Amino acid sequence: MMRVAILGGKGMLGRDLVRVLEAADAQPLVLDLPDIDITRPCAEWPGLPAADAMVNCAAFTRVDDAESERAMAMAVNRDGATHAAEYCVAAKLPLIHISTDYVFDGTKGAPYEEKDPPRPLNYYGLTKLEGEQAVVASGAQALVVRTQSLYGIGGRNFVKAILNQIRQGRKNLKVVRDQVSAPTYTMHLAAAILRLLRTGRTGLVHAAASGWCSWWEFAQAIVRETGIEGVDVEPALSKDLKFPAPRPPFSAFDTGLYSSWTGAVMPGWQEGLRAYLAEEPLARDATGA
Ligand SMILES: NC(=O)c1ccc[n+]([C@@H]2O[C@H](COP(=O)([O-])OP(=O)(O)OC[C@H]3O[C@@H](n4cnc5c(N)ncnc54)[C@H](OP(=O)(O)O)[C@@H]3O)[C@@H](O)[C@H]2O)c1
Repeated sequence: MMRVAILGGKGMLGRDLVRVLEAADAQPLVLDLPDIDITRPCAEWPGLPAADAMVNCAAFTRVDDAESERAMAMAVNRDGATHAAEYCVAAKLPLIHISTDYVFDGTKGAPYEEKDPPRPLNYYGLTKLEGEQAVVASGAQALVVRTQSLYGIGGRNFVKAILNQIRQGRKNLKVVRDQVSAPTYTMHLAAAILRLLRTGRTGLVHAAASGWCSWWEFAQAIVRETGIEGVDVEPALSKDLKFPAPRPPFSAFDTGLYSSWTGAVMPGWQEGLRAYLAEEPLARDATGA
């Protein structure tokens, strides 16, 4: 039975990775705060159970807060990645390290491939890029998996935010139409991570839902799929909503490399949304069902 240590195993992606591993008869080993703090050198980590691989899902993920909490964001996303890689070198463990589309500036105008040069627009993206670089430089047997726009049962996410606003009686939602990505269901990404683990590949790969949409289109799909009536979703521009951190305008991925390695195609974002809504209690509450 494959034993997989999951740093950040209590987070949104980590929890679904636990579910996917258990369903595949693999053994997840959940590692998270307060027991393990990846900002601390791995020599200071408490003794970990034996594992066959490690997946680093731990991160500072509050993109806007990273602009003001710079030291902490860098400590978790760069230094934490360094420490995870150092641990894996010492323990001779293969590592999958999760990164982000926010390493790109979003001006390519076509899906990003692994060979495209990164240029982060915000501080979170910079910390994640430095984390990737640290993992590669460590000499660990590592695969960096970039993903994007995650939503899942176990964490704060865009779908919950929309459903919560509707539940609170909002009839008019304003959502940006000039940020386009591939919203990705964490169960689908977790399944992709397991497939990638089994390939034993190292390097860099893009894994996110197939297709792409703006957050405005995604919000419309949420309303449509839940059958909620009487709610208008209006398009807005990022500059009018004044987020502290700038975001890339188009950051969808080319997932051809993932498919050629695994023989699988990432499910489309619409399929991900339907699967998620089927298990999200807020989707039932929002319609009053
Ligand atoms: N969410 C997205 O839209 C998105 C998009 C692209 C890429 N990603 C990447 O995907 C990965 C998973 O994201 P996610 O959305 O599942 O994140 P998440 O829900 O915020 O989970 C991250 C987990 O890491 C833990 N953590 C934070 N600081 C830590 C530390 N110093 N030591 C140990 N654990 C620590 C968190 O604990 P606390 O909750 O107690 O802080 C949390 O359990 C991350 O690498 C993220 O950068 C996410």
